[in-house]
Amino acid sequence: MPSSLLLKISVLSLLNLASSLPTTIFHDNTRTCQEYIIPITTTTVEAIPAFQPFRDNFDVVDFVNQIAARDAAKSFAPFSGTRNATHSYDISGTICWPTVQTEQAKTILLATPGLGFDKRYWDIQMNAEEYSFVDYAISRGYSVFFYDRLGTGLSSKVSGYDGAQASTHLAILKQLSVLLRSGQYTGGVGKPSKLAHVGHSFGSFLSQGLITQNPELSDGALFTGLAWDSSSQPPALESMGLRIANTQSEGRWVGLDNQYLTSGDIAGNAAFFFHGDSYDKQMLWYSDSVAQPLAIIELLTLTTLITGPSKFHGPVMVISGEFDFPLCGGNCTDTLRGPAELFFSNATDLQTVVHPKTGHAINYSFNATGAYAVMLDYLHKHQV
Ligand SMILES: *[C@@H]1O[C@H](CO)[C@@H](O)[C@H](O)[C@H]1NC(C)=O
Ligand SMILES: *[C@@H]1O[C@H](CO)[C@@H](O)[C@H](O)[C@H]1NC(C)=O
Ligand SMILES: *[C@@H]1O[C@H](CO)[C@@H](O)[C@H](O)[C@H]1NC(C)=O
Ligand SMILES: *[C@@H]1O[C@H](CO)[C@@H](O)[C@H](O)[C@H]1NC(C)=O
Ligand SMILES: *[C@@H]1O[C@H](CO)[C@@H](O)[C@H](O)[C@H]1NC(C)=O
Repeated sequence: MPSSLLLKISVLSLLNLASSLPTTIFHDNTRTCQEYIIPITTTTVEAIPAFQPFRDNFDVVDFVNQIAARDAAKSFAPFSGTRNATHSYDISGTICWPTVQTEQAKTILLATPGLGFDKRYWDIQMNAEEYSFVDYAISRGYSVFFYDRLGTGLSSKVSGYDGAQASTHLAILKQLSVLLRSGQYTGGVGKPSKLAHVGHSFGSFLSQGLITQNPELSDGALFTGLAWDSSSQPPALESMGLRIANTQSEGRWVGLDNQYLTSGDIAGNAAFFFHGDSYDKQMLWYSDSVAQPLAIIELLTLTTLITGPSKFHGPVMVISGEFDFPLCGGNCTDTLRGPAELFFSNATDLQTVVHPKTGHAINYSFNATGAYAVMLDYLHKHQV
């Protein structure tokens, strides 16, 4: 934990013996946060991998070349079929609400991070006043629930070969939405009046899947780092220089198998997540210090989250960095509107925003709060 966090948040940490779940409460004069470990059981349809697990980094680079190949769609079939599966997991989530009661506090923003990061993406602790989405949302009176995706942070570890599938992540997001709406794991917020979904990148695809399959569970959606140009992904994937995470940083990511990958060096992170001079190099090092490996199965199952038009009729905003490389091929201008209209045809006041002069990781770039302001002004305008 960065020492600034320790300085910033004071006080009491307690073990809730009654529920036998460890919960910790942090207070300061702007926000109060409670941490939970949430047991969740999912039943989903899983893909069955047809490829060999990675033994070493040469297997990884061959595999990435295969999926990034010009004719990959024709030549490469990663799965042999599907199976029904039931699993139980522990998910680490944090709820923060304004310490001083506000009208908006009864709206919870349920934030899902993207690949490469855990829940700390939403609560950046270096120059938090310029970068932390949680702090910004609290300053606008909102409450935020943010969590570690399965396989990241303090949530359960699973195999990166067949465990951390998109369908499983989606089932977890669905259950978290149901639990929060019913007032469980909401700390001092109690039962919320509204639940809005916020995502970054893979977290936005998951949130898109949620409002498509279960539109009744959301009152509004803010998708950051989202676009649908699949031809952009192969070069971006290559640019990361993916390597087996446990060969990169000994002892850092305990319990992850060889199917969890991370950039070979920090420049690989810069290539994928950042653009030009739109960020502070110190922030790149900070983001690297909180980075999480991605599971190969996450990449391979991502497209199962995009299942067609959503019936969702609440407000939807898509906001992506102008120069987003992985999702827009380095230029998001004029690429968001068309597909967004197809997917969210029944949304109220659909907005697509090209956030100027940044790459994929909006929150880690200069003017992060400029994006947050656009997002929360929009929710506020629609009384969410
Ligand atoms: C999965 O379960 C559904 C019913 O929920 C069933 O129709 C389907 O055949 C099952 N699939 C497999 C592969 O067992
Ligand atoms: C959008 O709403 C219209 C009118 O209610 C309906 O006919 C249409 O099926 C809806 N679209 C989707 C994708 O549900
Ligand atoms: C980005 O795309 C837009 C729309 O196609 C185009 O007008 C603009 O020139 C492009 N920007 C760059 C830097 O190529
Ligand atoms: C970035 O800020 C947006 C604003 O909503 C938030 O949804 C997202 O989770 C944040 N991600 C990062 C990386 O800060
Ligand atoms: C900051 O972001 C907002 C929202 O995208 C934008 O309107 C504004 O022009 C940006 N400011 C700069 C200096 O790029």
